[in-house]
Amino acid sequence: MLSKPPVPAGLVILLALLLAVSLLALALPHAASAQVPQKHPDFPEGVSAINPGADLWRDVRQRDLPTAGISQVRQVDSGILINVHGDRWARFRMTSLAQYSGYALAAIFVIVVAFYAIRGRILIEGGLSGNMVRRFSDYERVVHWTLAIVFLFLALTGLVLLLGRPLLIPLFGKEIFGLIASASKEGHNLFGPLFLVSLVMMLISFGRRNIYEKGDMRWLLKGGGLIGDGHVSGGFFNMGEKTWYWMVILIGFVIAISGLILVSPNFGQGRVVMEVTHVIHTASAMLLIVVSVGHMYLGSLGSEGALEGMKTGYVDINWADAHHDRWGKACHAQDLIVSADEYARLIGTRTVPADEAVEQGK
Ligand code: HEM
Ligand code: HEM
Repeated sequence: MLSKPPVPAGLVILLALLLAVSLLALALPHAASAQVPQKHPDFPEGVSAINPGADLWRDVRQRDLPTAGISQVRQVDSGILINVHGDRWARFRMTSLAQYSGYALAAIFVIVVAFYAIRGRILIEGGLSGNMVRRFSDYERVVHWTLAIVFLFLALTGLVLLLGRPLLIPLFGKEIFGLIASASKEGHNLFGPLFLVSLVMMLISFGRRNIYEKGDMRWLLKGGGLIGDGHVSGGFFNMGEKTWYWMVILIGFVIAISGLILVSPNFGQGRVVMEVTHVIHTASAMLLIVVSVGHMYLGSLGSEGALEGMKTGYVDINWADAHHDRWGKACHAQDLIVSADEYARLIGTRTVPADEAVEQGK
């Protein structure tokens, strides 16, 4: 009888080991998935698999470690694949920034209308005389209106970008709004630099006359004539105008510089710098837009005789005496007043003298 050769004990152990390892290898993935009933907040309902790339993406998002990765691309922020502050900035812009800007605009319109309803137009005691005095040169008026028109254009196009979605989409629909918004963006970027140019022109031509003087404090203490009766003493520009002027210059420079940083992101400014700059640009632009509504009201409808100076270069001497008495006094002393007829001839129109008008039955 042939007897089976005995199986070597070593071989048995080896086979047993191989079997155990293979079984373990087969069982391990199941064991791992069986351990993952935990629900991940990013998984849709019912999905409970661990994303093998989770750790990788956690690192990419850099939630906990704001360090830059390594990239072959040599550019600003190229090592940061996902800017985690971007979400926060976008939410802040769409909610707080846009919302409070809208409230501020609505508030200033309500204030101006209420002021007009309560105080009415600021009139000159004794009315206008018809006798005029030169206040602004042609160049100064060109500087003012260039600045004003560029500012209003940038304000309008900027506001379309900031508030257009909730206000214009319901009116015009998405397609037309898309056209308006992209035209606004191109127009804003293109004409933005003109604002800086007109600001420098304004600084050079109006700067000297806006330096604060001793008498200006009295204007402030009397609330610019809005508190109590009568007008408050003022020089060529009063303290209110000077403050408006320096706001335009200083806030204007902040708007212009931040605007230039936004418009040409080729000078090493990264995404966080762009986000912070955008918030500074929008907040300072909104501040100046809101105050400009008050200025435009007082420079036109709100104050009798004020607009004439920026329209023709001349103001009524009674207006000068009422609002800028120290300057008015100097005009009287230097005999700078021109009669109504002379003024009509100077600006190329002819007024009809009162007695002639009666004869003509007008
Ligand atoms: C409808 C729009 C506007 C009207 C009717 C208007 C009217 C006036 C008037 C009448 C003056 C001269 C005041 C005086 O003689 O004492 C003036 C000055 C001035 N305006 Fe305007 N303006 C308008 C828009 C703007 C805008 C948008 C800006 C700039 C954001 C601006 C900036 C200035 C500045 C800086 C001065 C000079 C103030 C000073 O030097 O103290 N204006 N404006
Ligand atoms: C040198 C002048 C200026 C430049 C270069 C400039 C540039 C820019 C740029 C690049 C943007 C971002 C546009 C985008 O969303 O892609 C912007 C937004 C804006 N700008 Fe200007 N800007 C200038 C002056 C002004 C002025 C004077 C005002 C206001 C009177 C203004 C008001 C705004 C507003 C309200 C936004 C919208 C912000 C938003 O959509 O969140 N900008 N500007």
